[in-house]
Amino acid sequence: MPATSNDDARDAVHDATKLLDSARHVVVFTGAGISAESGVPTFRDALTGLWSRYDAQSLATPQAFAEDPELVWGWYEWRRRLVERVTPNAGHRAVAALESRAPRVTVITQNVDDLHERAGSASPIHLHGSLFAPRCARCSHPSGAASSPTPVGAEDEGSRIAPPICPRCSGHIRPGVVWFGEALPEEALESAVRAATDCDVLLTVGTSGLVYPAAEIPRLAARAGAAVIQINPQPTPLDPIARVNLHGPAAEILPALLGPLGP
Ligand code: OAD
Repeated sequence: MPATSNDDARDAVHDATKLLDSARHVVVFTGAGISAESGVPTFRDALTGLWSRYDAQSLATPQAFAEDPELVWGWYEWRRRLVERVTPNAGHRAVAALESRAPRVTVITQNVDDLHERAGSASPIHLHGSLFAPRCARCSHPSGAASSPTPVGAEDEGSRIAPPICPRCSGHIRPGVVWFGEALPEEALESAVRAATDCDVLLTVGTSGLVYPAAEIPRLAARAGAAVIQINPQPTPLDPIARVNLHGPAAEILPALLGPLGP
């Protein structure tokens, strides 16, 4: 009697649970897919709704900000406000719960939202920065400055908003995210590499594994001997290095996978 896909799925979850249960150090490596079920569009979703107006790749660059700071700042403010309106999902919460049960857990995220923190994760490593850490584009002075008041009717649309001015050097405040062509924050990358080369299991969740150097992290862990478990509804370039591939949505699989773990 050939195993049905349900049997295969049950075996895969069982294999993954065994690997996680015996791990000394687990890295959870996340991408936009873990926030999808909270209502935050991923990058490679067909750009629906209001993001369809913008090509993320053309706006998320230093050049775009230099040419039109109000459009780029407006787009990120719209994304920040969208994140503030949503809540962490069961996937984020399962990851946070794992931190209090497994011997050692390091969360590494490519996401610029704060949903891991709001779900209770202690100190996720943000490889691509954060929507909540704006800084001066000229002197890098951190700025908690909220935007100038949103133009009426612009709340639910990305639209031009004047970026705040740095109180120290009068430069423009910019989003605290990594733009295409920019280096990743050195300390974050070093911490991520250390964790990836030390862990026994790397759980990669909701990433297409296409954008480097972040996408190197799961591969680094595999080369260092860690077992890679992947959660993604779609196949990705990480499939070949995954010991276990769990095809499905993170908010469904993570609680099932991480729930029974630990004491
Ligand atoms: P992508 O948009 O490239 O990929 C999202 C992945 O999540 C895809 O593989 C989807 O199949 C998967 N996915 C969608 N819904 C899911 C769900 N409910 N549960 C689990 N997985 C789901 O996003 P990232 O891989 O995070 O970089 O993109 C990496 C980087 O590319 C981003 O950090 C950003 C972007 O350019 C910068 O901004 C520097």
